[in-house]
Parts: sequence; structure tokens; C-alpha cells
Amino acid sequence: MRGIVLAGGLGTRLAPLTTITNKHLLPVYDKPMVYYPIESLVRAGVKDILLVTGGNYAGDFLRLLGNGKEFGLSHIDYVYQEGEGGIAEALGLAEYYARGQKVVVILGDNIIQDDITPYVNAFREQGEGARILLKEVQDPERFGVAEIDGDRVVRIEEKPSQPKSNFAVTGIYMYDDNVFDVIPTLTPSGRGELEITDVNNAYIDRGQMHFDYLNGWWTDAGTFESLHRATNLVKADRDRKDG
Ligand code: DAU
Repeated sequence: MRGIVLAGGLGTRLAPLTTITNKHLLPVYDKPMVYYPIESLVRAGVKDILLVTGGNYAGDFLRLLGNGKEFGLSHIDYVYQEGEGGIAEALGLAEYYARGQKVVVILGDNIIQDDITPYVNAFREQGEGARILLKEVQDPERFGVAEIDGDRVVRIEEKPSQPKSNFAVTGIYMYDDNVFDVIPTLTPSGRGELEITDVNNAYIDRGQMHFDYLNGWWTDAGTFESLHRATNLVKADRDRKDG
């Protein structure tokens, strides 16, 4: 099992903060944003990670993360995404690294409270296919939204104006290595990106999509509002733990 952290894109929604650094290096309470997704993977026993980044400050990740030992990683590798062609494009750059393996992918701006170990273990055991984690939210139109029928996800819509449920698809995705055959079949969306939602719908069409409901809080941190929320959630947890 290999881990992939996607930290590309230009983070323009956070300008001017992102004019002078990469979004994923911005602070969330007392750590750079990218620490949280890495720690989530390590906690689930994923010790080999590829970090995909881009933009003008890619070198800063190497200075910050080095060889990953501080996180308990066996190896960390880096790859550079030119432009911001989408989450699925960024994932496609991992093919050389993860062909023949299952992957756990996490978006570099997703921060979660829950330990994902049980979901990763379920994915290890499920054989072929994909697995996603859903979370009920108040503002589903900001996310990929799952249409659910009984115990199946039947469709995912990216940022729908009229969401079919309140269940967002979180930025934690698990795939078998067929994902690298799906990505080249995609075409860019209205926002000019290869969408991870299209990858997920391809697995749904094959009847190979599994899902779990994520416990605990979850947030992205890609807007001023959500970046602020992420800091508050992390701090509240820390205060609780420190008693
Ligand atoms: O946070 C979960 C949501 O993330 C999902 O519900 C959506 O289905 C999914 O499309 C995505 O939505 P966003 O529009 O919020 O994604 P955003 O463009 O903010 O990118 C999220 C992360 O993905 C970003 O922090 C780094 C990585 N990324 C993104 C792009 C566009 C890349 O590595 N390369 C890219 O080209």
C-alpha cells in the first residue's frame, strides 16, 4: 500500500497568502497544513509516501519535510505537477510510483480528526476497486456530493447547485492500480481540470465502489473560512487533550 499526498494547485482562493508560499505550507494552528494529511497516513500504517506539488515554492517542501524520518516514514518521494490540471491529473503523475500497488490518496488541504486505520484496513481486505469516505455537511454544494441508494453510492456530482444529499465526498480516496488506466480516459471539466469525481464515477459504473462514513470532524482548508475553521478545530482538540 502506498500513500499519495496531493499538494499541487496554485491555491488562488487564498491569495494574497499564496502569493508568497504554497497553500499547504500555511499554518493550521501550530503546524504547516501538509503535516496533517501526512500524519493521518502514518497513523494508518502507510509509511511510503509520494508528495505531488507544483508552483513556485515546491523546493520548500523538501526543506520542511526532508527524508520524512521525523514523521516515521520509511521513504518520502516528490513529484512536480506543472500548472493545475486537476486532482486526477496530479494523481496520474504517481503512476510510476504506485503501479502494481493499492494507493491511499489524501488531499493536502484535508484535515481530519478520526483515525483512518479501520477504513484503510477494510480497503486492504476488499480486493479490487475503490473506497471513499463520506461526511455529512451543511454546505454540500462546495464538494463532490454522493447520491446514495440503500448501501450503495450510485453517483457523485461535483459541486452541484442542487445536491442530492448532504454527504460530501472527503478528500481521502483509496484505489487499486486500475486507477492509472481510468485517468487517461478522462476529459477536462468545465473548470478545465481532470476531476477526481469522474474517476470515482468510473468505479461506480463498474460496481467497484465501496464507502464508509467518516467519524469525527473533517474540514478542508482551502478558503479563508475553512482555513480558520481548521485552526479552531485543531486547537479545540489540543485543548481537550491537554485537559
Ligand atoms: O475537499 C474535498 C473536495 O476536494 C471534494 O469533495 C471534491 O470532490 C474535490 O473536487 C475537491 O474539491 P476542491 O475544488 O475543493 O479541490 P481543490 O481545487 O481546492 O484542490 C484540493 C487539493 O487537491 C489541493 O489542496 C491540492 C490538490 N490539487 C488540486 C488541483 C486542482 C492538486 O494536487 N493539483 C491540482 O491541480
